[in-house]
Amino acid sequence: MKTIIELIAEEVKQAFVQQGFEEKYGMVTISNRPDLCQYQCNGALAAAKQYKTAPIKIAEGISASLKESPTFKEVSAIMPGFINITVSDGYLADYLNQMKNEEHFGCGKEAAPKTIIIDYGGPNIAKPLHVGHLRSAVIGESIKRILRYYGNNVIGDAHLGDWGTQMGLIILELKRRKPELVYFDEGYEGEYPAEAPFTISELEEIYPAASEYSKANPDFREEAKNITYQLQNGHRGYTAIWNHMLNVSVTDLMKIYKTLNVSFDLWKKESDAQPYIPEMIEYFKENNYTRISDGALVVDVKEEADTREIPPCMILKSDGATLYNTTDLATIVERMKLFAPDRIIYITDKRQELYFETVFRCARKTKLVGEDTELTHIGFGTMNGKDGKPFKTREGGVMRLENLINNVNDEVFRKIMENRSMEEEEARIIASQVGLAAIKYGDLSNQVSKDYIFDVDRFTSFEGDTGPYILYTIVRIKSILAKYKELNPSFDMAAIIPAASQAEQALMLEVTKFNEMLRTAYEEIAPHRICAFIYDLANAFNSFYHDTKIITEEDKVKQASWIALITLVQELLLQCIDLLGFEAPERM
Ligand code: ARG
Repeated sequence: MKTIIELIAEEVKQAFVQQGFEEKYGMVTISNRPDLCQYQCNGALAAAKQYKTAPIKIAEGISASLKESPTFKEVSAIMPGFINITVSDGYLADYLNQMKNEEHFGCGKEAAPKTIIIDYGGPNIAKPLHVGHLRSAVIGESIKRILRYYGNNVIGDAHLGDWGTQMGLIILELKRRKPELVYFDEGYEGEYPAEAPFTISELEEIYPAASEYSKANPDFREEAKNITYQLQNGHRGYTAIWNHMLNVSVTDLMKIYKTLNVSFDLWKKESDAQPYIPEMIEYFKENNYTRISDGALVVDVKEEADTREIPPCMILKSDGATLYNTTDLATIVERMKLFAPDRIIYITDKRQELYFETVFRCARKTKLVGEDTELTHIGFGTMNGKDGKPFKTREGGVMRLENLINNVNDEVFRKIMENRSMEEEEARIIASQVGLAAIKYGDLSNQVSKDYIFDVDRFTSFEGDTGPYILYTIVRIKSILAKYKELNPSFDMAAIIPAASQAEQALMLEVTKFNEMLRTAYEEIAPHRICAFIYDLANAFNSFYHDTKIITEEDKVKQASWIALITLVQELLLQCIDLLGFEAPERM
């Protein structure tokens, strides 16, 4: 289904052509003066230059011809040559009825769907999630859903960090604390216990302790490196511990992601890419992609047009150890082999931008990916506290994700209990739904690359540009619809008839923007556009609601149309929040 702008532009273009001008001048945009008109065309100004005519003359000619069409209620030529356009109320209603009947409200699907891998979340085993991981999960989940909505085959991969020196640190710290464990008995040949020798909280406490200790103790650091090396070369006992770490962590992570309404299709791990490394390095060397620099193996990725310094991509350190780069490159090899994706999208903090630029260049230069494979890094900004500095706990430490979620839920719970009489148990459940909306909307309503301030008070407010406000609006519509159904148990959904008021017309106009908006959100990979849309839509609905006595209306035809209209509004809001990754409660 075409967007309403496309349909209007078709008519305007036709008018330009009929009067002897090029079609391109008939472009239409949403009016930047909504108080004067709904749409505008500025083509007469540009056409005037080419055809050496006064712009207002052209605008007048076009207006006169458009006025003949039943599509328009008002068309006027305004000095120096603008064309102001307002469509007829019948046209608007027809468009909405069509949206209602089309799959995906007429958004359409990708003619040639792509296979797209989204690498997001990026949790690390044995380490607690922090707010940076929150952003990656929230943004990635929404992008996955948007890309999928258009029919693409989208594969979300958590890309678990389970490799590298922190593993050795944790194992060594465990050895220091519990040297008697059988895993450290080099002579042991039996089966290892099925039960992990630690809980998730112990595990999460071990890593920071080990990391802290290693700073002051170079011997400890060396030994940890050695253990990492042995682990990576198949040491039995260390491998058994590592498997325990993996299981304990993943169980916990899955629980947290579930509360975040985030789900991955794949839980691949950095270690899964390790088997691809030797062959990849061989291939690099054979094709002369690499050179030795200070003992390290590197691939030069500088390009002539660079305006900034792009360092070489390091593949092996001088001691032969692999790096984060090496794993990411090998993961590309694996992904190409298993899924042959058309595109891979990585969602991380924007501080990793140069890193990914280097890795992508290396992958292209060495032809790990096809020429048409798109590699995209989406870098997000920092989540700051009210002081404008990176978000911290009150004590100045790194805020654990679970604590952050609990803080927000508690605040919402307090607000619910303050104003309503509700069973505590129900209020708790609702608070977790509303709290999630507060967090996700607070994040996603900002352009991804921007830093933003995490403000619990503002995010949890039931008024203003917030998640809870959107949910509140949905719940309000739900309750009107429920009441109507109660009074009219056997009603059929009516068609929408032309607007009866200014507020209703404004609401209809917002609805028509849906497919245009979503296409932009899709093409730009920009969830914030969805937030902006639902905020406007919710505002337009609430103005209409305050203006209109829906349930007590005596004109049944009008009333049935309103029910159809607000049902559509509700469906759009629900669809949008689903694309953002949260849900609405039945009441709040
Ligand atoms: N585990 C990493 C971290 O915590 C993020 C991984 C991002 N993805 C990737 N393919 N490098 O920072």
